[in-house]
Amino acid sequence: MKKITAAITGVGAYLPDYLLTNDELSRMVDTSDEWIMTRIGIKTRHILKGEGLGTSYMGARAVKDLCEKTKINPLDIDVVICATVTPDMFFPSTGNLIADQAGCKNAFAYDISAACSGFLFALTTGSQFIETGFAKKVVVVGADKMSSIVDYKDRNTCPIFGDGAAAVLLEPNKDGYGVLDAILHSDGSGEQHLYMKAGGSRYPATEETVRNNWHTITQDGPAVFKAAVSNMADVSVEMMERHHLSSNDIRYLVPHQANLRIIDATAKRMGIGREKCMINIDRNGNTTAATIPLCLCDYEAALCKGDNLILASFGGGYTWGAIYVKWAYDGENR
Ligand code: UT7
Repeated sequence: MKKITAAITGVGAYLPDYLLTNDELSRMVDTSDEWIMTRIGIKTRHILKGEGLGTSYMGARAVKDLCEKTKINPLDIDVVICATVTPDMFFPSTGNLIADQAGCKNAFAYDISAACSGFLFALTTGSQFIETGFAKKVVVVGADKMSSIVDYKDRNTCPIFGDGAAAVLLEPNKDGYGVLDAILHSDGSGEQHLYMKAGGSRYPATEETVRNNWHTITQDGPAVFKAAVSNMADVSVEMMERHHLSSNDIRYLVPHQANLRIIDATAKRMGIGREKCMINIDRNGNTTAATIPLCLCDYEAALCKGDNLILASFGGGYTWGAIYVKWAYDGENR
């Protein structure tokens, strides 16, 4: 009997309308378009505005887009997994809220928290449900409203992040397409370099935590940069070696969009040029769990059945990994 793999059979996305430009940021903190473009590579990021709108608002719209494009009935979806670090609330899970808002009434749903690698961790988990025959249709969502935890007075972090959501559909395949392998890692000692101190059980919200500004992202940029460059490249090269893939065999690297210099360093180690890197950091910034599926949406039309993709990420936790995907459909027909 042929092995069942989890094929990505569709993608959908949602980006809020409001565009935060480098010029607007330059009026908020001491920075410039030139610094942000040369050090990070971001021109604009989307920001979700509106009272009471959280991550589920974007995630549900991404799932609806996915259902419309693939013409599947939301009632046929078995599982919804949402990767996020900016849930609407501690509970219920944002995946649960997304499933409800998108009409996936027959699905069970939950969240995965692995920061910038969240989508890769969730994609791996979702694939297991397909491979074991437990489910026939799994939706994996990457969604983050980073603007809800960014300190817009901190020039070290505020240019980096944006809001957005994207989703993929996983279905069984017997012809060798889909998620073929995953290498995932985490190292909790990285906690000290990228974290949000309060709001959890260690430091529940108090007047003091608010006064101390502990409800926003703290990042030691250079430390994270160094770890990202070496680990994202190592794991991507390991995946190529494991499957005897040369740079010519790779159609696209689909990297987490944290910094154009990290993307370039990873591509260089893999021996591939910029033309083989999916890049949208200039328009979207770092949307954490949403970067990789947003890239798949942007490049969908350019993808062909059989294309070899390496999805790679590094982020808070630390968490990092690479996934080898053999693309399952011709994008331009969608
Ligand atoms: O996705 C989650 C994982 N996160 C990442 O992968 C992020 C990894 N880190 C990075 O991408 C980079 O470290 C940053 C983009 C965050 C920072 O870039 P950097 O080249 O590492 O800059 P730096 O922190 O070493 O700062 C260099 C200088 C400093 O000034 P001095 O001390 O040399 O005078 C900073 O104060 O740049 C200054 N600086 C800025 N200047 C203008 C820091 N932020 C800004 C800014 N505008 N926004």
